[in-house]
Amino acid sequence: MAWRSQLFWLLSLAIARSSILAVYDDYRLPRALESQHYDLRILTHLDELRFVGLVRIHLLALESTWNITLHVKDLEIDEERTTVSSFQDTNCVTSIETHDLYDFYTLHLCRELVKDEVYQLEMHFGARLNSSQSGYYNSSYTDVKSKKIHHLAVTQFSPTFARQAFPCFDEPSWKATFNVTLGYHRNYTGLSNMPVLECQEHETLDNYIWCKHETLLRTSTYLVAYAVHDLQNRTIAEDNQTPHRKVIFRNWMQPKMLDKEMPSLEMAPKLITFFEDLFQLNFPLTKIDQLIAPDHRFTAMENWGLVTFNEFHLGINPNDDLQTKKDSNAFTAGHEYAHQWFGNSVTMKWWNDLWLKEGPSTYFSYMAMDALQPELGRGEVMIAQDLQNFFAKDSSGSMPAISKEVRDPAEILGQFSDYVYQKGSLMFRMLHKVLGDNVFFQGIRSYLRQNALGNVIQMDLWKSMQEAAQQGNVIPADFNLSKAMDSWTLQGGYPLVTLIRDYTGTGRVKLNQTRFLRGKETERNSGCWWIPLSFIRQGLPDFENTIPQASLECPAETQEVRTLPDPPSSDEWLLVNPQVSSIFRVNYDEHNWHLISQSLWNDPNFGGIHKLNRAQLVDDILALASVRIRSYDWALNMLGYLRNETEFLPWKRALKLLKDLGALLSGQEKKNFKIYMQQLLSPLYKRFSKLGLILRTMPATKEISFLRFAYSQACHYHVDDCIEQAKKLAKSQQEIPSDFREVAYCSLVEEGGEAEFQEVLTLFKNATNAAQQQIWASVLGCSRDFKHFKEFLNFTLESDEKSIRHCYLSAVKMALSKDYMTSQTINLILGQAKIIGEKFKKKELTGLLLSLVGQVQEPMELEQLNDQLKDIKAFKEPLKEALDLGNINQQWQKDCASDFSRALEIYLRRTTLL
Ligand SMILES: *[C@@H]1O[C@H](CO)[C@@H](O)[C@H](O)[C@H]1NC(C)=O
Ligand SMILES: *[C@@H]1O[C@H](CO)[C@@H](O)[C@H](O)[C@H]1NC(C)=O
Ligand SMILES: *[C@@H]1O[C@H](CO)[C@@H](O)[C@H](O)[C@H]1NC(C)=O
Ligand SMILES: *[C@@H]1O[C@H](CO)[C@@H](O)[C@H](O)[C@H]1NC(C)=O
Ligand SMILES: *[C@@H]1O[C@H](CO)[C@@H](O)[C@H](O)[C@H]1NC(C)=O
Ligand SMILES: *[C@@H]1O[C@H](CO)[C@@H](O)[C@H](O)[C@H]1NC(C)=O
Ligand SMILES: *[C@@H]1O[C@H](CO)[C@@H](O)[C@H](O)[C@H]1NC(C)=O
Ligand SMILES: [Zn+2]
Repeated sequence: MAWRSQLFWLLSLAIARSSILAVYDDYRLPRALESQHYDLRILTHLDELRFVGLVRIHLLALESTWNITLHVKDLEIDEERTTVSSFQDTNCVTSIETHDLYDFYTLHLCRELVKDEVYQLEMHFGARLNSSQSGYYNSSYTDVKSKKIHHLAVTQFSPTFARQAFPCFDEPSWKATFNVTLGYHRNYTGLSNMPVLECQEHETLDNYIWCKHETLLRTSTYLVAYAVHDLQNRTIAEDNQTPHRKVIFRNWMQPKMLDKEMPSLEMAPKLITFFEDLFQLNFPLTKIDQLIAPDHRFTAMENWGLVTFNEFHLGINPNDDLQTKKDSNAFTAGHEYAHQWFGNSVTMKWWNDLWLKEGPSTYFSYMAMDALQPELGRGEVMIAQDLQNFFAKDSSGSMPAISKEVRDPAEILGQFSDYVYQKGSLMFRMLHKVLGDNVFFQGIRSYLRQNALGNVIQMDLWKSMQEAAQQGNVIPADFNLSKAMDSWTLQGGYPLVTLIRDYTGTGRVKLNQTRFLRGKETERNSGCWWIPLSFIRQGLPDFENTIPQASLECPAETQEVRTLPDPPSSDEWLLVNPQVSSIFRVNYDEHNWHLISQSLWNDPNFGGIHKLNRAQLVDDILALASVRIRSYDWALNMLGYLRNETEFLPWKRALKLLKDLGALLSGQEKKNFKIYMQQLLSPLYKRFSKLGLILRTMPATKEISFLRFAYSQACHYHVDDCIEQAKKLAKSQQEIPSDFREVAYCSLVEEGGEAEFQEVLTLFKNATNAAQQQIWASVLGCSRDFKHFKEFLNFTLESDEKSIRHCYLSAVKMALSKDYMTSQTINLILGQAKIIGEKFKKKELTGLLLSLVGQVQEPMELEQLNDQLKDIKAFKEPLKEALDLGNINQQWQKDCASDFSRALEIYLRRTTLL
C-alpha cells in the first residue's frame, strides 16, 4: 500500500511527556510494527557543527496497537511536528514516554493502528555533531599548508548509534530500504551508501544543495552511513589492480595523504572479486567509497558502499610501519569486505549472535590474504596467533559463551571483544576442517543465498551446514550438527581430552574429556563438548586429512573406547586433531608422549608433524605442567627439540609461554631461567645472519616478522653477541629498516647512559609520523634511567596529540618487560591510573593491565593493585580480566613455581656445568 502525502494530517494536541520506567520494559522493540522504508533528509551545517533532519518511516502494522516504540538518543525532537498518518486515516500523539536504559521513545496514539495497514511516522529532529565518534559526529583535520582546521561530519552507527542520528528502529533485524537526501554547502561533498541520483538548490539557504541518493536495499540501521566533508578523492590506480567489472571504487582522504601508499585500500577491488567468486554471489551495489576518517571509534566500519577507515590505524608509511602493522591493515580490508556478505547481507537477528558476522569475516579475511598474496603466508600466522590467545584466555573459567544474551547498549558494545572475533573465526575454521572444502563451501554458499538480505540465528548456519554435510555424505544421517556446534558456541571454555592407547594390538584407545581450567580445582564433569576426532599415525603422517573418523559426544562418559580404523604399531605415535582443526587440548599416555618427543628430537622433519600441531604440542605440554598433570621436567625436555625448530609458529608460541613464566621468578631462579633461555635461543640466533649485517642481507617480506622476533628475543636475553651486533647497527649511521630499529636502539639505550637516552629522545621529537614515534617510544622503554623515562611518560600522557599519547602505551609495555624497570613502572602507572583511565579506550587499558599483572609476583601487590583501581570506572572490566590472570599466576607460584625451578636446574645441570 502506498501513502499519499497530501492526506497527512498535522496534529499537535497537547502532548504529555514522561520518563518513567515504562510498562513496557523488555529490552527489545515490540513487534507489533514493521519498518519498511525510511525517507531521511539531513541538513548539515558544518560551520555550526550541527544538523537538522526529517525522517518519514513507513510502518506496517503486524498487529493492532495504540503506541509506537522506537529508539532515540541525544536528539532534540520537534514534538509539535511529529505526525502519524495513513492513507485512510489520520492520527495523533497523546503522550510520549522515554526509557533511558534502552533509549526507547514511545508515542501513545489517539487512535489504534490497525493490523495490516501501512502508516507513516514523520519526525523532525536535530542535534549537535558530537565529538564522541558515534552517531553523526564531527571530525577534523588541519591543513598542512594553511594551518586551517577543516571540519567534516561522518557517521558511525554500529552497533547502537544510529538512534543518535535519527529516530529509528535500531535493531539489526529491523531491515528497511532507505532514501537518503543530504543537504549541505556547495563547498563540500556528500556521500552516502548509494550514489547520488540528483541534486537541487536548497529552497532558502544560499549555496546549499540537496542531493538525493539512490534507494539503499533492505538493510539494518547500523549499516546506514553518510558523510559531508571536503576530503579529496583518489581513484584506485588501474595499473596495479584489476578494476572490478561492475563496482567503482573511490578513496577519500585529507590532502596530505594523497601521495601516500595505501596497499590495503588498493586491495578492495581484488577482495570484492575474490569473495564474489568464493561465495558465488555478487556484490549488489555499484560503488564503494572508502573514506579515511581522521577520528574513528573503531579500526574500520563495513557500511554498505561507504566503508570508513580510521586514519590513525591505517599504516601509510611504508618505510616506518612495522610488518605486523602492514599485515593487520591487509587483514582489516579483508575483514570489512567479507562483511558485505556476512553481516551486511546476512545479518544476525540480535547482538547475542554477533559472532555470526565477526567470526566468518575474520576467518575469510585470513583466507583472502593467503589466496591473494600466498607468498606472504600471513593468514596462517594470524590463525596461530588466535589459537595462542584463545587457549590462554579461555582457561581462566570466566570467559562467557560467544553467543550470549546482551540487552542494553553497553552490553552490546561489550560483545565486540577480540575473544568473540577470534573464537568466532575458529568456529568457522572448525566447520571448514571438519566438513572439508567441498561440503563447507557448499554449506556457506547455500546459507548466504537462502538468507540474503535477511536475518539469522546460529541455527540457520547449522542447518545449511547439516544439509550440505548430509548431501556430501561426510556425516551420518542422524547426526545433529546443531547440538554438536552449540556445545562450542553456547558455553565458554574448552576441553582437555585424555587419550590412553592400548599397545597390545587391539587398535583401541580409551578417551575422556573434561574442561581445562587453570588456577582452580578442575571440577569434574564441568561442561561437555562434541569433539571431532581425526587420528594420525606416525607411519602415515597426513595432516591434511582433517575430516574426523570418530567423535566424543555429550553427555560425556567417564571413559569412551574407540577402535582405530588404521591403528599405529606400538612404536609409532598417534596424534589427534591435525592442524588443530578443533580447539581442544590433548593429553596422551606417557609412552605416546615419549614417541612424539622422540620424533621431534630426532627427525629432521619432526616426524612430519604439522607446524600448527608442533606449536600446540608445546602449548599443551606447558599447560599440562601448569595443572600438574605432567611435570615441568618432562615439558622442558620436550621443548629442547626447539634447537632444531625452523618455523616461526612453534617458536613464537614457546617463547611467549616461557617468558610469562619467567616473569614470575626472582633471585637465583630468575638467573637460571635466563641461562636456560640463552641456551634455548642460541641455535636459533645462530641460524640467522648477524643483526649488524641486516642492511646487506635485507630479508624477504615473509621472513621479516620471524627475524624481528628472533633478534629481539635474543637481545632481550643477551644471547651470544646479539647486544653487540645491535649496538653496532644502531651506531652505523644508516637508515635501519623499520622492523629492526627497535631492537638495534633498545640495546644501545639499555647499555648506554644519558647521552644515548637523549639521542633517542631527539629522534622521537624529530619523528615525522606516528609509526616513527611508536618505535622511539618503545626504545626509550629500554632505558635504565627511570628519572628521565618518567619525564618522558608524563610528557606523552599530557599531550593533546593522539599519536604521542599512544606512545605512553608502547613505552610502558617495553619497560614492564625489563626486570630493571618493572616495579618502578608499575608504581608509576598505578599512581597515574585515574588519568590513564580517561585517556585510553577499554581495549587499550585491558592490554596495559594484562602486561602489568603479568609481572606481579606477590599476592600483596595484586591486592594493592585491586585497591588502587577498583573505584576507577574505566578500569572496571579490564581489572576483572587482569585479576583473573593475576589469580592464575598466584596459584602457579604456589603450586608450580618450585617444580618449574627444579626442572630448570636439572635441565641446566644436564646441559651445562652449572
Ligand atoms: C503499547 O500497546 C500495546 C497494545 O497495543 C500494549 O500491550 C503495550 O503495553 C503498549 N506499550 C506501552 C509502552 O504502553
Ligand atoms: C525512493 O527513491 C526512489 C528513487 O528516487 C523512488 O522511486 C521512490 O519512490 C522513493 N521512495 C519513497 C517511498 O519515496
Ligand atoms: C566556500 O569556498 C569558497 C571558495 O573557496 C570560500 O570563499 C568560502 O568561504 C567557502 N564557504 C564556506 C561556507 O566554506
Ligand atoms: C575526484 O578527483 C578528480 C581529480 O583528481 C576530479 O576530477 C573528480 O571530479 C573527483 N570526483 C569526485 C566525485 O569528486
Ligand atoms: C580420564 O581418563 C584418565 C585416564 O584414564 C583418568 O585419569 C581421568 O581421571 C579421567 N578423567 C575423567 C574426567 O574421567
Ligand atoms: C639438531 O641440531 C643439532 C645442532 O644444533 C644437530 O647436531 C642435530 O643433528 C640436529 N638434529 C636433527 C635431527 O636434525
Ligand atoms: C631531524 O629531521 C631533519 C629533517 O627531517 C633532519 O635534517 C635532521 O637531521 C633530524 N635531526 C636528527 C637529530 O635526527
Ligand atoms: Zn567486523
